[in-house]
Amino acid sequence: MDVLVRAHSGLRYVILALLLVAIFNAIANLKSGKYEKKDKMINLFTMIFLHIQLLIGLVLYFTSDKVQFVEGMMADASLRFFDVEHISLMILGILLITLGRKKAEKNPLPEMKHKLILRYYVLGLILIFIAIPWPFTHPNLGVGWF
Ligand code: HEM
Repeated sequence: MDVLVRAHSGLRYVILALLLVAIFNAIANLKSGKYEKKDKMINLFTMIFLHIQLLIGLVLYFTSDKVQFVEGMMADASLRFFDVEHISLMILGILLITLGRKKAEKNPLPEMKHKLILRYYVLGLILIFIAIPWPFTHPNLGVGWF
C-alpha cells in the first residue's frame, strides 16, 4: 500500500494547484458575461481529481496502520486525526465542491456560475488545507512534505 500512500500524498499538490486555478479563473471571469467550455473543464477536472483522491483515501482508510479502532483512540492525537478528523473534513470539503459545481452547472447566468464556483471552491479549499497533515500544523504525526 506504500505506493498508494505516496500517490495520495503527492496528489495533495495537484489538488491544491487545481483548486487555486479554478478559484482564480472564477475571479478573472466573474464579469466576463461568459461561462465557456474552458471554465467548465477546469472546474470538472478539479472535481475529478478530488474524487480520485477520495477513492484512494477510502482504500487507505481500510488498510492503513494509522487507522485503528481501539480503546482510547480519541485520546491519542494521531489515531484521532486519521480515524476521525482527516476523513470527515476531507469528505465535507469534497462534498461542498461537488455540490457547488452542480449548482453552477444548473444556474443559467454566467456570473452566478462563476460566483458559485468561487464560494464553494474557496470553502472546500479551506477545509481541505486544514485537514492535510502538514509538517507545520501536525509535527507530531511524523508526515513529511511528499
Ligand atoms: C482532498 C482530499 C485529501 C487530501 C489532500 C489528503 C491528503 C493526505 C496526506 C497528505 C496524507 C499523508 C500521506 C503521507 O503519509 O505522506 C494523507 C494520509 C491519509 N489519508 Fe488523506 N487526503 C485526502 C482525503 C482523504 C480521505 C477522503 C480519506 C478517507 C476516506 C483519507 C484517508 C487517509 C489515510 C487513511 C491516510 C493515512 C495513510 C497512511 O499513511 O497509512 N484521505 N492524506
